Amino acid sequence: MKKYDIRKTPGDTSWFTADRFGMFIHWGLYAMPARHEWIKNIERIKDEKYDKYFKFFNPDMYDAKEWAKTAKNAGMKYAVLTAKHHEGFCLFDSQYTDYKATNTPAGRDLIKEYAEAFRAEGLKVGFYYSLIDWHHPDFTIDGKHPRRDDKNIEELNAGRDMKKYAEYMRNQVRELLTNYGKIDIIWFDFSYAGDYYNGMWGKGKEDWESEKLIETVRGINPDIIIDNRADIEQDLWTPEQYQPEEWIRDDDGNLVVWEACQTFSGSWGYHRDETSWKTPEMLIRMLINTVSCGGNLLLNVGPTARGYFDERANAALSAMGGWMKYNSRSIYNCTQSEFAPPADVRYTQNPDGCLYAHIYAYPFKELKLPGLSGKVEYMQFLHDGSELMFKEMGGDVYVELPHVKPDQIVPVIEIILND
Ligand code: GLC
Repeated sequence: MKKYDIRKTPGDTSWFTADRFGMFIHWGLYAMPARHEWIKNIERIKDEKYDKYFKFFNPDMYDAKEWAKTAKNAGMKYAVLTAKHHEGFCLFDSQYTDYKATNTPAGRDLIKEYAEAFRAEGLKVGFYYSLIDWHHPDFTIDGKHPRRDDKNIEELNAGRDMKKYAEYMRNQVRELLTNYGKIDIIWFDFSYAGDYYNGMWGKGKEDWESEKLIETVRGINPDIIIDNRADIEQDLWTPEQYQPEEWIRDDDGNLVVWEACQTFSGSWGYHRDETSWKTPEMLIRMLINTVSCGGNLLLNVGPTARGYFDERANAALSAMGGWMKYNSRSIYNCTQSEFAPPADVRYTQNPDGCLYAHIYAYPFKELKLPGLSGKVEYMQFLHDGSELMFKEMGGDVYVELPHVKPDQIVPVIEIILND
């Protein structure tokens, strides 16, 4: 198979580009208002008001082992959990803050259980760590802060010291990377230096002291995968809530390692009333489309305030798992194909000489695969390994298909190529 020249980066992405499918988990106090993880910002909620969530946070049904099993059954190979989101609340027992799960009715380190459970299921373990912090007393008010429209911003900002905040982040990241075993991914979020709001600039690498932050991370774990949102390009490009239609390139035109992150319904945190849930077919296509353009998919779950994945999330994950059970060979270890597919088909290909045709619109009797004549040794449906007969004509291959579409949301043809 064609060897793609991918931009070299400091971390080890070899496992990552083989695994292809991960679980994002957004969990924090915002699971309680259950109307968006940005709720503190959107409703400009003051700390004193937001404190009620801290006071009553009690995820009595949290079972990290169950989360890990659910992720594994969905076909996911790694996970990234919010150790701290923009609200500033820490799911882990940090010695640098009191604003953490151990001081709520939860009464324990929720990150520890996650790391142990996911590792035990053989999944790789990642942390999301928010650069933005709407609780820390040294984080200056800016245009994305809940207090952005207050009259006395100068007064509020007096005495706040971003240098101290940057050090706080380094300290916490050191804790996250040393207290929970080997961490495979750290996902910083996010930079907005160019944003301007009412006389206030946003924040970027100077504010986060990103170079030092990244040095701290690499000093502990040189191989770890770091995303690009600390405003310095690292290992991972992270398109959010849209699907790239071709392999992403950096500014110099090099192909990069990329991961699309997507929600089930729009909000990342648990949202009780959102009805815009994607269908299983849409989700499965998202995964296929992503891999067909050389990327990974990080699909998000927002657990409830009681700590479990709700019915809707479980149903979506089990549909993904149902498809992955029979078809994951077209996802793992696969990437963009060297061949161009016909309309309504997406190709993925692996270095072991298999090409996979994902059929989005099931045709009558015959599927034409242009340009494959002389290249195919054998063909079968992937889900049941049943042979598919084919003819070759004028440089093309014509696959004979049964009249009835197999009972697969997206049927896949496994095409074993000649050496
Ligand atoms: C955004 C949002 C955030 C979410 C993230 C996931 O940057 O601020 O709520 O965590 O994207 O990619």
